[in-house]
Amino acid sequence: MRAMHIYDAVTSRKSVRAYTDQPVPREVLERVLDTARRAPSGGNLQPWHAAVLTGDALTAIRAAAADRLAGLTTGPAPEYPMYPEKLWSPYRERRFRNGEQLYESVGVTREDKAGRVRQFSTNWDLFGAPVGMFVFVDRGMNHPQWSDLGMWLQTVMLLLRGEGLDSCPQEAWSVHHDVVTNVVKIPDNLMLFCGMAIGYGDTNAPVNTLVTERAPLEEVVTFLDAPGALTTRVD
Ligand SMILES: Cc1cc2nc3c(=O)[nH]c(=O)nc-3n(C[C@H](O)[C@H](O)[C@H](O)COP(=O)(O)O)c2cc1C
Repeated sequence: MRAMHIYDAVTSRKSVRAYTDQPVPREVLERVLDTARRAPSGGNLQPWHAAVLTGDALTAIRAAAADRLAGLTTGPAPEYPMYPEKLWSPYRERRFRNGEQLYESVGVTREDKAGRVRQFSTNWDLFGAPVGMFVFVDRGMNHPQWSDLGMWLQTVMLLLRGEGLDSCPQEAWSVHHDVVTNVVKIPDNLMLFCGMAIGYGDTNAPVNTLVTERAPLEEVVTFLDAPGALTTRVD
């Protein structure tokens, strides 16, 4: 295991959307996921459930996703809305900019709808990653437990960085959740939250040159040393 400073782990993590074929040793995945159990959760509920797929399991998901894309099968409605129906400022602009930068990185223009669909569809191949993780949540859980899942996911992603590995969380799978749950059987009380591509990033892939932007500190954090108002940007 390589030692990596926590700041380097955070700043070097990014969503990697192209991978090499290099397999990920099972023991590395186990070490990461074993350590990620230390992620915090309200009341220590530890509400995360994950399946780590490789080999035939992953092949089956890719094949079913390809069938779905080709229109050979239809799926049920998504189980949760990915974003609020109509995003508002500043979130709308941030999302727009994210898409703009992503498509720019692969040379797809705003007018090139087919190009955008092509790039988006790489989600269904898990961006060529050798490992796919799928994360489930109990349907009865509330907002705080969903945030616990986020903390666990980030813990996993940072530990992966410590192992020289890359990742990309994938909410996109919520659209074709049955493709996943036909391969990973889950009880009725659980539902899919997201997938995650895991592997060694292809440093030659143009899509991996993308470094996303962030709002400046003063736009998202207010320091108060006396009673006062939150001044973060809400427009
Ligand atoms: C919960 C979650 C789900 C995401 N789902 C997708 C996805 O389905 N497909 C995708 O390409 N990126 C997905 N992303 C990646 C985000 O687009 C990315 O985190 C954001 O643009 C910031 O870029 P960075 O991760 O490179 O810092 C997801 C990120 C999170 C945290």
